[in-house]
Amino acid sequence: MRHFLRLWDLTREEARAILARARELKARREEMRREHPGPLFGRTLALVFDKASTRTRVSFEVGMMELGGHTLYLHASTTQLGRGEPPEDTARVLSRMVDVIAVRTHAHATLERFAAFSSVPVINALTDAHHPCQLLADVLTFEEHRGEIAGATIAWVGDGNNMAHSWIEAAALFGFRLRLACPEGFAPDAALVEEARRRGADVALVGAPEEAALGADAVVTDVWASMGQEEEAEARRRAFAGYQVDGRLMRLAAPDAIFLHCLPAHRGEEVAAEVLEGPQSVVWDEAENRLHTQKALLLFLLGA
Ligand code: CP
Ligand code: NVA
Repeated sequence: MRHFLRLWDLTREEARAILARARELKARREEMRREHPGPLFGRTLALVFDKASTRTRVSFEVGMMELGGHTLYLHASTTQLGRGEPPEDTARVLSRMVDVIAVRTHAHATLERFAAFSSVPVINALTDAHHPCQLLADVLTFEEHRGEIAGATIAWVGDGNNMAHSWIEAAALFGFRLRLACPEGFAPDAALVEEARRRGADVALVGAPEEAALGADAVVTDVWASMGQEEEAEARRRAFAGYQVDGRLMRLAAPDAIFLHCLPAHRGEEVAAEVLEGPQSVVWDEAENRLHTQKALLLFLLGA
């Protein structure tokens, strides 16, 4: 029984196999939707979320349905979790009834407590520390547009947040160069960077967005204030001035560089509308790829 709490829960071979499966599921989507019974017929996925979601929820629900299974969406506000029932108890109860559980929550430790007591696979659907499902989609999207990611150079511009952490883990897992430009005080977790380097990753923290973007094969950013940081939004807008991915920054990257953003995006903050809507932006492919990669992940974790 395996959990997927962070990218490093997979070996490089397993991650590669999941991406290969995702490509096949994407290519055969129409044909597979007509197959009965689907490979996950009779299986149930529970989504235990205490943060908002559009892409993650929809991609898991549609993905599970297309594989023949069923999904329960359980928001904390409508379950006993929201009234203080411990994650350990919830995990033991749910895993007597469902086959796989995806959790979206604040503290990564809450997810780990949940996983420790679950007898079925637990997937990280986003915590304050990691967003590994998004990275499976991001790597697939990069490779669809630019070929093999190993050896490529990726620029991260903005907050050293959950997405930055998952990009750092991906750099070690898939073997690409990662340059991060984050304002002072918003660097990613230093211990994680160190561990990534110990695992052979080429991860550099650079001073200016221009330095990160120069010659990069992809420029990536994310919101300046993540879920749970709404109160800090104004202070963060000030701290992140100069870190917007705009046309000028994109012109420093490789001529065929792509722009990635996990979404939701804030035009005029972390990304200029001209970039998000521009020819280098592949964010809609990236969002769609959540579906294909998570279907492959579900099949992997459920041994189907
Ligand atoms: N990118 C992402 O996880 O989007 P949602 O918050 O809409 O699920
Ligand atoms: N860093 C963002 C990602 C949203 C998908 C957040 O945690 O809100």
